[in-house]
Amino acid sequence: MWGRLRSDLTKALVSEFRTWAKLETMQRVMQELPRVYVTRQVPPDGMKILKQSGMCHIEQWDSDDPVPRQELLKQVSGIDGLLCVLTEKIDAELLDAAGPKLKVVSTMSVGYDHLSLDELRKRGIRVGYTPDVLTNAVAELTISLLLATSRRIVEAADEAKNGGWGTWRTMWLCGYELPHSTVGILGLGRIGVAIAERLKPFGVQKFIYTDVGPRPELANKIEAEYVPLDVLAKESDFLIVCCALTAETQEICNSSMFSKMKNTAIFINTSRGGVVNQDDLYKALSSGQIAGAGLDVTVPEPLPTSHPLFKLKNCTILPHIASATYSTRNAMSALAANNLLAALKDEAMPKELKL
Ligand code: DGY
Repeated sequence: MWGRLRSDLTKALVSEFRTWAKLETMQRVMQELPRVYVTRQVPPDGMKILKQSGMCHIEQWDSDDPVPRQELLKQVSGIDGLLCVLTEKIDAELLDAAGPKLKVVSTMSVGYDHLSLDELRKRGIRVGYTPDVLTNAVAELTISLLLATSRRIVEAADEAKNGGWGTWRTMWLCGYELPHSTVGILGLGRIGVAIAERLKPFGVQKFIYTDVGPRPELANKIEAEYVPLDVLAKESDFLIVCCALTAETQEICNSSMFSKMKNTAIFINTSRGGVVNQDDLYKALSSGQIAGAGLDVTVPEPLPTSHPLFKLKNCTILPHIASATYSTRNAMSALAANNLLAALKDEAMPKELKL
């Protein structure tokens, strides 16, 4: 009996030892894996790709709200990869805090104005972003916002709900329609083209666009004519901003531009708030210089509810939701994850921003 007991005990000890040794090995392997910091809860497809890759040790700010800056600076120390969203400023301070191992910053956004590109270039850090996968969602939302603004949908729904709906009136809540109109696109890229393709069946007569130079390969798809900014301002019945925010486009929509626009014109911005001088926009809207504006983006975000633009009936403001569909946000997270993993493996990234 003692013999059996001793053999059982030995077996149990050996099995314990093996489990412990396995754990030790696992821990060692985990410690050797590249460390990745994810700055937010991201849609499931992206997280699944990261986890199933088994090739990185993931740390995450597991919240729907942004990671506080000081916490972020602490957490990035010594990481190899960073997966971020557009609320995180990736600047010299953060890159210094991360240290020399950082190989890749992968942002779950098409916009990259939150990244200090010079600093990233100087340090040889690769950058991934998420173009294309959000084009349809952004185009769709831009059309929704344009129609909501030009046909005064939000104002009308408020009137119906709040007792402003009296009898049917001949000129009440009239707006502007797309047939026979000229649509101007400021910044013609994939999104601008997708917007124009969707607007065409509404009976738009002419598309014009402004960019740093003519872009015939895109413009030909929608038969759009290249014009300088002041002509875009003068001729557009609907002026839609689709450009990236850069030093050149910062507050490009200002009093000079608004003063040239028709007083029946509708201004739409789904790119970045920084391309607009909001004080000038407020003046243009409140003085009747232009007819209406629809904004999905502002400075700052969120725009304080006390902001004067919220007081205007002819200004429709949305909380930066252009890409917010389940499938698009999942696709963005998957692309961001694949960009990150490719860079960690020193491979070509599916969508790398050339610095
Ligand atoms: C982006 O990706 O830059 C959009 O603004 C949010 O989807």
